[in-house]
Amino acid sequence: MSHRVTLIPGDGIGPEVTGAARRVVEAAGVEVEWEVHDAGAVVMEREGTPLPDRVLESIRHTRTALKGPITTPVGTGFRSVNVALRQGLDLFAAVRPALSLPGVRSRFEGVDLLIVRENTEDLYAGIEFRAGSSELDALRERLRALGPFEVPHDAGVTVKPISVTGTRRIVHFAFDLAQRFGRRRITVGHKASIMPHSDGVFLAVATADAAHYPDVEFEELEIDEMALTLASEPERLDVLLLPNLYGDIVSDLCAGLVGGLGLAPGANIGWEYAVFEPVHGSAPDIAGRGLANPVATILSAAMMLDHLHEPEGAGAVRAAVRQVLAAGETRTPDLGGTAGTEAIADAIAGAAARIRERGGDAGDG
Ligand code: NAI
Ligand code: MG
Repeated sequence: MSHRVTLIPGDGIGPEVTGAARRVVEAAGVEVEWEVHDAGAVVMEREGTPLPDRVLESIRHTRTALKGPITTPVGTGFRSVNVALRQGLDLFAAVRPALSLPGVRSRFEGVDLLIVRENTEDLYAGIEFRAGSSELDALRERLRALGPFEVPHDAGVTVKPISVTGTRRIVHFAFDLAQRFGRRRITVGHKASIMPHSDGVFLAVATADAAHYPDVEFEELEIDEMALTLASEPERLDVLLLPNLYGDIVSDLCAGLVGGLGLAPGANIGWEYAVFEPVHGSAPDIAGRGLANPVATILSAAMMLDHLHEPEGAGAVRAAVRQVLAAGETRTPDLGGTAGTEAIADAIAGAAARIRERGGDAGDG
């Protein structure tokens, strides 16, 4: 059966790493019809918007996308395409595994973490007040009357909403995921002592609803304590359940624990749609030079194959990545090697094809 998937190459290193992932998926014997749609800087120049409607329409139709990173221009008045996609498609859960890989030097061994990040609320909700704006003046007056709360005259303000409804769905999503993948414990990260009405909601809902899942252990940690634990004994933790901003920060931290952003895959999932993308950004410092590590995007594609009920394809892609990294001959500069994006993509695609053929032989008896 052939799958229809929307492919958003993205910008910076995006086209390089998504091109590699596409080749590996095809080599793993999964038939995909790609609907390729640009978004980001290139489209912005051409059409005046970085996210044309047809991109969202394509995903609403295919239900599944593989996406490269997209640069978020600072100070142009356009919101992040990534945030717009997550909110437009209600992709409320970001799932990001951080797993030690063979042949990759890192500070820790045996790390096997799964981050579940709430993806739509919190400081990412886009409720922003520019310093000096009349809107903020009005808000300042209102707050003075209500509190009294004093907002400094030269401050900008971002509002942090965390709802019971938004938290409840991510909590249930995380526990269902933990059960499905046989994970033993969920740890929620928060700062409820300082923000009782936002993080406090997240913690209270998670604590209450955890009781519905007696077979998965539940614990809570203040976010700074979680940071310390991750930096000193990451093997103590299993599934991390986090509000949006902490989830963003902890995702990069965990990528660092297992060898860097070049290896960290991710998925953005809602009830109806799913968009698979690496944790890293568009890496303008190395874009267009054929040096980017495509493994994060290739592993994101493996998560996509699981989602499309192609477990053999997903398994072949993961096994191929492990084989090539363990052999150690083909490595990109971020992992201490000299190979380029194409070379490692070739090696992984070749390995995936061989694994699939062997699997096929065995299957045919
Ligand atoms: P970044 O992740 O693009 O780069 C951070 C560092 O990691 C750089 O030194 C980069 O060269 C390196 N790096 C990242 N991915 C790599 C890979 N695959 N192989 C080798 N090295 C890699 O983060 P940065 O510089 O903060 O962001 C650049 C742009 O990307 C910004 O506009 C940001 O908003 C955007 N961004 C987009 C995301 C998305 O589309 N989902 C996620 C994160 C950032
Ligand atoms: Mg990030």
